[in-house]
Amino acid sequence: MTDETRYAIYPSLRDAVVLVSGGASGLGAEFVAQFAAQGARVAFVDVAAEAGEALVAEVAERDQPRPVFRACDVRDLDAYRRVIAEIAAELGDVQVLVNNAGSDTRHPVAEVEPRYWDERMRVNLDHQFFAAQAVAPAMRAAGRGSIINMGSISAHVDLLDLTAYMTAKAGIEGLTRSLSREYGPDGVRVNCVLPGWIMTPRQLENWMTPEADAHRAAAQALPHRLEPGDVARLVLWLAADDSRSCTGQRWVVDGGWLHS
Ligand SMILES: NC(=O)c1ccc[n+]([C@@H]2O[C@H](COP(=O)([O-])OP(=O)(O)OC[C@H]3O[C@@H](n4cnc5c(N)ncnc54)[C@H](O)[C@@H]3O)[C@@H](O)[C@H]2O)c1
Repeated sequence: MTDETRYAIYPSLRDAVVLVSGGASGLGAEFVAQFAAQGARVAFVDVAAEAGEALVAEVAERDQPRPVFRACDVRDLDAYRRVIAEIAAELGDVQVLVNNAGSDTRHPVAEVEPRYWDERMRVNLDHQFFAAQAVAPAMRAAGRGSIINMGSISAHVDLLDLTAYMTAKAGIEGLTRSLSREYGPDGVRVNCVLPGWIMTPRQLENWMTPEADAHRAAAQALPHRLEPGDVARLVLWLAADDSRSCTGQRWVVDGGWLHS
């Protein structure tokens, strides 16, 4: 987590119950840390149990509300729904859901089998719908709630070997529009965030090369490298009452890569 003292504090996030999927590393870990820094009561799920426990300890050391972590594979929808119910029983009804878990593993098109395709949809798309469906009744009853779906600008650019990921990410935009209309009458907002290339540990380790970095800098209007905090601060705003009249939209944080 970077120095946040120069950024906004949202009173409406204090004590809010927030659920983040895929929160043990990368962007999700930054969301967990930043919501906790706002005084929110954060729960997160991830398959990476060790990293999840380490993050809980790290946040608790900063004297912020201790996050609740549950090891859970969001591809197992029954298990995930059970965990969401347990979290609500422990912390109270979820007010903010950040559908963040995902995987951008590459695959040559000719080698994709139906089982693999299905698994890619499960890790990148299906859980977003079912988590929203699980938290929505309490949000609707409360007359408020914010659901934030992580999309990607990759659904709008032409990348190789990412067909299933890009298909799922494009689907998330349709999911967002549909659910915003479904839940809007009860005051529940649904938005999606489209990050550009964000410098998470996984991205730096797997894909960063001098050539890729030069391409990135040339593609962006703002040539600096984007950090997880850049996305987290938009997510905080979308979660807070400050964005109370915004729903059904896609919000791009890419340094000016997409211009459509
Ligand atoms: N980093 C980027 O440049 C970038 C760009 C565009 C979109 N995104 C999106 O932002 C989100 C987070 O990306 P990231 O870069 O932090 O990814 P990451 O790979 O660094 O972290 C993803 C987290 O999700 C967890 N996860 C993966 N599969 C899971 C499963 N089946 N069940 C539970 N947890 C699981 C991982 O363990 C990990 O902690 C994703 O939806 C991704 O598509 C990221």
